[in-house]
Amino acid sequence: MQNIAMFSKLGILLSLLVGFVASEDLSFTFNGFRSANLSLDGIAEITANGLLKLTNDTKQQKGHAFYPNPISFKNSLNGNSSSFSTTFVFSIISQYPSLSGHGIAFVIAPTKGIPGALPSQYLGLFNGTNNGNSTNHVVAIELDTIQSNEFTDINDNHVGIDINGLKSERSAPAGYFADNNGGFKNMSLISGHQMQVWVDYDGVERQINVTLAPISVDKPKIPLLSLSRDLSPIINDNMYVGFSSSTGSVLSNHYVLGWSFKMNGQAPALVLSQLPKLPRIGGKKRSKLLTIGLPMMIVSLVSVAISAAVFVVKRKRKFAELVEDWELDYGPHRFKYKDLYIATKGFKDKELLGVGGFGRVYRGVLPTSKIEIAVKKISHESRQGMREFVAEIASIGRLRHRNLVSLLGYCRRKGELLLVYDYMPNRSLDKYLFDQPKITLNWDQRFRVIKGVASGLLYLHEEWEQVVVHRDVKASNVLLDGAMNSRLGDFGLARLYDHGTDPQTTHVVGTLGYLAPEHTRSGKATTSTDVFAFGAFLLEVACGRRPIEQGAEDAILVDWVFSFWNRGEILEARDPNLGADYVVKEMELVLKLGLLCSHSETAARPSMRQVVQYLEGDIPLPELSSLGLCSSGLTFAHNVGFTNLAMSYPSSMSKEFTHPSSVADSLLSGGR
Ligand SMILES: *[C@@H]1O[C@H](CO)[C@@H](O)[C@H](O)[C@H]1NC(C)=O
Ligand SMILES: *[C@@H]1O[C@H](CO)[C@@H](O)[C@H](O)[C@H]1NC(C)=O
Ligand SMILES: *[C@@H]1O[C@H](CO)[C@@H](O)[C@H](O)[C@H]1NC(C)=O
Ligand SMILES: *[C@@H]1O[C@H](CO)[C@@H](O)[C@H](O)[C@H]1NC(C)=O
Ligand SMILES: *[C@@H]1O[C@H](CO)[C@@H](O)[C@H](O)[C@H]1NC(C)=O
Ligand SMILES: *[C@@H]1O[C@H](CO)[C@@H](O)[C@H](O)[C@H]1NC(C)=O
Ligand SMILES: *[C@@H]1O[C@H](CO)[C@@H](O)[C@H](O)[C@H]1NC(C)=O
Repeated sequence: MQNIAMFSKLGILLSLLVGFVASEDLSFTFNGFRSANLSLDGIAEITANGLLKLTNDTKQQKGHAFYPNPISFKNSLNGNSSSFSTTFVFSIISQYPSLSGHGIAFVIAPTKGIPGALPSQYLGLFNGTNNGNSTNHVVAIELDTIQSNEFTDINDNHVGIDINGLKSERSAPAGYFADNNGGFKNMSLISGHQMQVWVDYDGVERQINVTLAPISVDKPKIPLLSLSRDLSPIINDNMYVGFSSSTGSVLSNHYVLGWSFKMNGQAPALVLSQLPKLPRIGGKKRSKLLTIGLPMMIVSLVSVAISAAVFVVKRKRKFAELVEDWELDYGPHRFKYKDLYIATKGFKDKELLGVGGFGRVYRGVLPTSKIEIAVKKISHESRQGMREFVAEIASIGRLRHRNLVSLLGYCRRKGELLLVYDYMPNRSLDKYLFDQPKITLNWDQRFRVIKGVASGLLYLHEEWEQVVVHRDVKASNVLLDGAMNSRLGDFGLARLYDHGTDPQTTHVVGTLGYLAPEHTRSGKATTSTDVFAFGAFLLEVACGRRPIEQGAEDAILVDWVFSFWNRGEILEARDPNLGADYVVKEMELVLKLGLLCSHSETAARPSMRQVVQYLEGDIPLPELSSLGLCSSGLTFAHNVGFTNLAMSYPSSMSKEFTHPSSVADSLLSGGR
């Protein structure tokens, strides 16, 4: 009861206030906004000389400026919308003469900020959900400089009356009817010229008129747009008036120079001479200099033109790409070489993240979206197999998993393939494991990394629409993102070299020490060969040693771990850098699972689904001894792999081959 009483008191108070404002017939005039107290949001600002700058050189943004107080639009006696009138002078200055951001709207809205509204074609007024909804209570006059077919815009240079949505109730190409039957004169909204708009609503006739003219022309008698519509159901009692503007992908500045408004009467005329000056866009001074400077200008213009032509030809060659008809299907995954060139600052050495067998990897920032990327540059002369490979990239490009590095797309040039990946700020896992690392990972982090990689691999093998064999699982292909989550990279890449290489030599691509014996024999990569490599990876992470240690006595890691297991002291194989800081149960699980995955018999290896279940503790790991794990079974794998490879690589490789791990890094790894 008390509450109701309070509400009704509030109600009375409000209607008194409203009545007070209404009886005043609010009116304001801003010849420049220096002393105006507008509510701004988004990127709108008021410049030092009093221009209202709704947008600056920022893409995909919106700017709002509202009169700070609510205005009572309704006649409190009958609830009909009152007459109002407003006029303003604006100018749109664009980066390009024929393209612009999305325009300006004069808006009457129930709130100042228009929360939830989007930039670009939504003009900072609506979003995809509420566009066109009668609950919006928004009336807008749009000066629209882009044709959005979704809103059935008539062209890219029009004025429209919008009610609750961007599909205009009325619209017309920008222009005006010259008085005394002077005919229709076209205007270009993005010309940078100053123009004036008048909006008049007659609350009795229920008609809204919109008139546009260049600043040098008095208000034309015939309006550009006229709409008969009762605004009473659309406009609430208390509304805010102001401007909204948005930019898309072209830089443009939207300015309002002066504005006046009046309820129940004609908006006061603006004093044009008092309006602030627009920033100079150059080339406006015409003087005697022109006649003197003209010959000189022509000469320099000609030389500029020549060097421009040379520049264009050079540039064209520099950014030339290879595109074939069949590639058009993969459009969305194709990057422009020029963008990648700019992103990596011309593939500067400073941006180099690493060098591996497959190519060099650069860090970059895409010019428009500012997204950080890693670009892998692979030299690849062979065209053979490229088509299948690109098809595969396009399908791999759709793979999304939190433990996989997303492949964003590719670009192709003569003899060169560029792959674009998400950038991983913490680089690759091997940096934290080997070579006397400065920072080593603690056991918690390592176990999380292992589980992440297992989950990524399971996704590739079983959870995606087709089976993807990674072919090159190893610590240097595991990257760490900003939150130190592990992400598996470079999947499917090894495939490229499958197609291109000479069938007389070998099909085997992968990295020594991670290659399953049957893989080296048959050349066929399967999910099971991935599991084998994952086994080597598990041991790497737990022991902090490479699968094949160059020049060491116990060169082969799996044998080394096996010997500890044989003596019943498998925990002693753990990375000494961990000290005592590890979980015995998990360490034992990882080491044993590493041995199990390294089994030379395909059938004895678990599937990735089982691996994930073991790691999550959902099912217990079977006793190794019952699986016939024996030393020969393990070493055999590596010895066979070793000799087969040694024979199958062409002789030019044999020198490097004396150092197995350097072969692995320089020839086969995806390296980083
Ligand atoms: C645009 O305005 C916003 C907000 O006032 C500011 O943060 C941004 O730096 C400006 N951008 C440019 C290019 O001036
Ligand atoms: C400007 O408007 C705000 C919000 O309406 C108000 O708080 C502030 O006092 C006003 N400032 C001036 C100088 O009028
Ligand atoms: C759209 O705008 C409305 C309010 O204007 C907001 O409530 C809603 O969350 C927005 N929707 C989206 C998808 O942004
Ligand atoms: C309009 O918005 C209201 C509330 O925001 C929602 O319930 C309604 O479904 C919307 N109508 C349409 C046609 O989108
Ligand atoms: C004005 O623009 C329209 C198209 O928007 C064009 O058809 C017409 O010819 C133009 N008129 C003049 C006088 O330039
Ligand atoms: C709108 O324009 C028409 C002429 O086309 C005029 O008769 C009418 O009075 C105007 N209404 C307002 C509100 O200015
Ligand atoms: C207010 O609107 C009602 C109907 O909506 C109409 O009958 C009445 O004449 C209007 N009053 C005025 C003063 O225009």
